[in-house]
Amino acid sequence: MGEMGKIVETPDELAEPVIVPPEAYVSEDYVRAERDKLWRKVWLQAGRVEDIPNPGDHVTYDILDDSVIMLRGSDGTIRAFHNVCPHRGRKLIDTPKGMRNARGTKNNIICGYHAWTFDLDGKNTFIEHQDDWQGCLTEDRTSLGKVNVDTWGGWLWINLDPDCMPLREYLEPAASMLDPFQLENMRTRWRKWVIFECNWKVAMEAFCETYHVPGTHPEFMEFGQFRGWGRNQGLHSNIGYDAPKGQEEDAAKLRLGAGEDPRVTTAEMQTFTWENANTNTTRTLVDVALRLKDELPEGTPAVEVSKYWLTTARAEDEARGVTWPVVDPQHTAKSGTSWQVFPNQQIGHAVNNMLCYQARPYGNNPDMCIFEAAVYELYPEGQAPETEWEYTEPEDWPPVLQQDFNNMAAVQQGMKNVGFKGAQPNPYMERAVASLHYNLSRFMGRGEPHKIK
Ligand code: FES
Ligand SMILES: [Fe+2]
Repeated sequence: MGEMGKIVETPDELAEPVIVPPEAYVSEDYVRAERDKLWRKVWLQAGRVEDIPNPGDHVTYDILDDSVIMLRGSDGTIRAFHNVCPHRGRKLIDTPKGMRNARGTKNNIICGYHAWTFDLDGKNTFIEHQDDWQGCLTEDRTSLGKVNVDTWGGWLWINLDPDCMPLREYLEPAASMLDPFQLENMRTRWRKWVIFECNWKVAMEAFCETYHVPGTHPEFMEFGQFRGWGRNQGLHSNIGYDAPKGQEEDAAKLRLGAGEDPRVTTAEMQTFTWENANTNTTRTLVDVALRLKDELPEGTPAVEVSKYWLTTARAEDEARGVTWPVVDPQHTAKSGTSWQVFPNQQIGHAVNNMLCYQARPYGNNPDMCIFEAAVYELYPEGQAPETEWEYTEPEDWPPVLQQDFNNMAAVQQGMKNVGFKGAQPNPYMERAVASLHYNLSRFMGRGEPHKIK
């Protein structure tokens, strides 16, 4: 893949302290090089399968100069096409002003310029005065260009490189680690996007480690201390928490409240999370947590509180037609709390909900990105809410995310300071940062982290 040759499986050598040079975050030249060396080579998560359930349904995805139409054909197959007319290059489906992407249903695609028309297979069906071309307009010259598309986890993935490796191979080991969580069954509770003043890497790195929690989100520390880790996973990386001894892995994932009375701290933690982040939990989990004090005797140990809370919430969801997958606790422990799928997606998975972040460049400006977050959960059949990407100014995001935004903007400024010598990520807790740059350097041919020692 790419000019750097094959992706080599990275051993977890990033346990050693490294310095990440600032160029990848701040250089205009680097951003321009990313288009060809990175964005036109990697698999990109470009939409959700449930957004195009029926024939003719389509959704678009823009990445720098490129735009792709993902379209469900009359045969039910999902296809992807370059969003450009082969006649004289008009973008075929415009993104409505203020929207993140186009989405809708069509029987065919009619170019707005000279009305060349294409069917759902991308084949041209109408050219005014076709004879004028004297027989030169072969199907090849008049059809829409195909783009590689595949699905995994309920998402649509595209790759602009005609010679790319298969999606599944690209996603490993993340795909196999995440499959048991059945992410494809989850639906969005909300999804927000914003054009923000930092590099896309700064945005992704604000969420790929837990080292920042005490400093950025001190409120969470009241609910118990958890030691976080980060691991390199080939092209990808994951992060997680070490579960307190004897506690169920799901509880560590949900960061069950510890402290004096775990019945109370769990309820407080859940309420706080629901109100201030609106992520990483569900209404059922919050409601059951709020009843722990009434339903369990005083002095119930944390392990028992956790078990009761999760078992009860699972049963109550089951009763309303929401079945959490059963995942082996050891697998849950290994899978951690979230995966960074190279280069620009984070999947924060759990058995009943997930929080996903993405960021991509905004034009050729290294100081800007399009940042997106989506929260998913399991719903009873047919009861998932209809959601759309909502453009949301930073001050209108949940308060916990605003704390992260503050860092993102300030990091982007700080990185450009002549006095900044490069990032020094924590080798244990922030290994995902080193992993990203180590892998990026393979595509870009520059910017490899260097060892401090
Ligand atoms: S550019 Fe599309 S029909 Fe002319
Ligand atoms: Fe954060």
